[in-house]
Amino acid sequence: MRTDHRAHVLIDVINQYGIVPKRICEIGVHRGKATKKLRAAFPKANLLLVDPWLYDPKERDRIQLGTSQQTWDWYYRKICKKYHKHRILRCTGQEAALIVGGKVDVVFIDAPIGYDGMIEMLNLWVPKVRTPGLVAGHDWHQGRTRYAGQTRAINELLTDVQHGPETVWWWYKGQECE
Ligand SMILES: C[S@@+](CC[C@H](N)C(=O)[O-])C[C@H]1O[C@@H](n2cnc3c(N)ncnc32)[C@H](O)[C@@H]1O
Repeated sequence: MRTDHRAHVLIDVINQYGIVPKRICEIGVHRGKATKKLRAAFPKANLLLVDPWLYDPKERDRIQLGTSQQTWDWYYRKICKKYHKHRILRCTGQEAALIVGGKVDVVFIDAPIGYDGMIEMLNLWVPKVRTPGLVAGHDWHQGRTRYAGQTRAINELLTDVQHGPETVWWWYKGQECE
């Protein structure tokens, strides 16, 4: 398993399950590092790229530091230019779930959304993942970290969650959930 970027871990997991994705949703795109790797690994897949690309002065995340709304607008424009053949939604993953029709083979949640956000996100997105398919994400942290809340939400809603290098986690949707 390649472990030098979260996307490589995800790609390996998708391949290990033998999933040939036609549609992959990335929630939390930022500047598109994972997007680039996903497109290279699955050139035939349609990508659904979701991010509000919003400057948040209250957020202490390092990706917000030293930025402004202009910076985030610029990230968004670059993504639009590079991925114009794919679907780009400038909104939250929660909002996107209400807009997007049909199902996806893989959803990759890579957004700092906390406990409530993750509960909401999983409730909205798990039904939108095909069987077989994969619900996956980044920032699996237990203990006293800022991501512990969202990790707890994942543990509460999903059983048999796997986790690997680069704090990537995944749940294989192998049978229809009632
Ligand atoms: C760590 S970055 C994503 C990195 C990207 N996946 C990569 O591998 O390069 C987190 C992103 O989540 C976005 N974000 C925050 N809250 C969100 C939400 N509720 N829905 C979708 N994206 C969100 C932020 O705007 C930010 O761009």
